[in-house]
Amino acid sequence: MDRPPSILMLDPPEHTRLRKLVQRTFTPRSIEKMRHITTEIVEDLLDQLAEKKDIDLIEDFSFVVPFVVIHSMLGLPDADMLNVREWSQTLVQTLEPNISPEQVDAAIWGGTQLNEYLTEALAWKRNKPGDDLLSDLIAVEEGGDGLSEQELISMISLLFVAGHETTVNLIGNGTHSLLNSPDQFELVLNDPSIDSTIADELLRFDSPVQNSGRQLLEDMELSGVHVEAGELVLTALGSANRDPRFWGDSAHLLDVKRQDASRHVSFGSGVHYCLGAALAKMEGEIAITRLIRRFPEISITEEPTFNSRIILRGREKFPINLGVPVNLN
Ligand code: HEM
Repeated sequence: MDRPPSILMLDPPEHTRLRKLVQRTFTPRSIEKMRHITTEIVEDLLDQLAEKKDIDLIEDFSFVVPFVVIHSMLGLPDADMLNVREWSQTLVQTLEPNISPEQVDAAIWGGTQLNEYLTEALAWKRNKPGDDLLSDLIAVEEGGDGLSEQELISMISLLFVAGHETTVNLIGNGTHSLLNSPDQFELVLNDPSIDSTIADELLRFDSPVQNSGRQLLEDMELSGVHVEAGELVLTALGSANRDPRFWGDSAHLLDVKRQDASRHVSFGSGVHYCLGAALAKMEGEIAITRLIRRFPEISITEEPTFNSRIILRGREKFPINLGVPVNLN
């Protein structure tokens, strides 16, 4: 695959150029439009799940919401959700510090499948433009400098994969945190004022992306340690989010009313600050609050397992019972 690297891996000025182009389509208006669509997606899904009662929170809910949202936001053609999930899971495995030769082979296979799907999607969208992100990205022009075909594929691929492989952990980890904190669970049920702070606090408390990394461009002094240009530095986002030197004595406590929760670093910082932060927070807030308010009896039936990832750390199997739904209409 001779695809250009994703913006995550680029430095300015290449990064600045591509980020500016994509940011022009990722506007507050496009996110606001998705709030309404996300609410519908979540409500429809909850209607379907009410029939089942015993579900796997990750497979049936936490994965489905962000997948359907980013799929619809991009305006991609219909696809088998589980196939695409398998491809993107093999790809994100390459973010992990330790991967086996088999996982490298699987990632090459997954990348090729995803590339083919997105190349076809792009050709299809050129003939069938709509009111969606993919059409906007195709149309985007800045001083005549649009995205090339390969840059487009690389960008959509990142948006698509980053759009669901991370948010699945916000919804899964976040729901787990609340189910283990009865007092906070009660607040979600009874106090709508927490809607503005809940996503940030859940992102802080159990970070969906635990680490990011940087290769230094120049020598630096980091916490009294001299680090030379070219060396790799791992930033422990999850650890910073629980650091009592910053958060004080309550760092280890879940507090969905925490007023400065948005100071967490779960979305990174600097030029690579997460492009989808507002979208992810909106999805997390709607998915989790609606799930709990519709199913106040929700309970864990078996302790969840982890997905064995260090970076995109989250639950993999999470069996729950929804209990009797409350009719909110
Ligand atoms: C809870 C959900 C999410 C978390 C925790 C998260 C976390 C992050 C982090 C930590 C970074 C910075 C990585 C670094 O500094 O090396 C990042 C970058 C990025 N994220 Fe997210 N993300 C989430 C959701 C999303 C969504 C929904 C999208 C898009 C639809 C998205 C798109 C991106 C993109 C494009 C970048 C690269 C930005 C750049 O390099 O300029 N993310 N994300």
